[in-house]
Amino acid sequence: MRITLIGLPGSGKSTVGRQLARRLGVVFIDSDQVIEQRIGCSIRAFFDREGEASFRDLEESVLNELSAAPEAAVLSTGGGAVLRPANRQHLHQRGTVIYLRSSPEEIFRRIRYDKTRPLLQVANPLEQLRSLYVQRDPLYRETAHYVVETGRPSVTTLVNMITMQL
Ligand code: S3P
Repeated sequence: MRITLIGLPGSGKSTVGRQLARRLGVVFIDSDQVIEQRIGCSIRAFFDREGEASFRDLEESVLNELSAAPEAAVLSTGGGAVLRPANRQHLHQRGTVIYLRSSPEEIFRRIRYDKTRPLLQVANPLEQLRSLYVQRDPLYRETAHYVVETGRPSVTTLVNMITMQL
């Protein structure tokens, strides 16, 4: 059983994923953490040094590997995982994909003080989130088997909602 969580940065993929994995008694894998282990530095530093295209190449090969692994797991992905058609196809075909949907405003409230997110280090992060949402919401929907609204529910409630859909 492979459950993959997708959604914008700050939609709760890692937090929900960790608790979901614990509930299901399977391992939790965060693709961004796997990438950081391989490059030996933060994604932010890698982005600054090598550029986004190199990061996306690396992300594609790591997602290809992680989505194909046979053991049961909950996989949390980076917000841009759906940008490449190959990733959308692999993730959709190799497990159950859940889109944690949050509005840009809600995400902004949650992560506005987080300095570790490279795509938000811009003059107007809320505008940035809005444009990411417009670009990516259709891609998340195309990749997902289920859409879960993250608005009000607690993490535990979200985990309950997800396990009921599996
Ligand atoms: C990115 C989101 C990040 C990380 C990278 C690029 C994106 O992951 O993969 O900085 O393009 O949205 P989170 O969604 O976990 O923040």
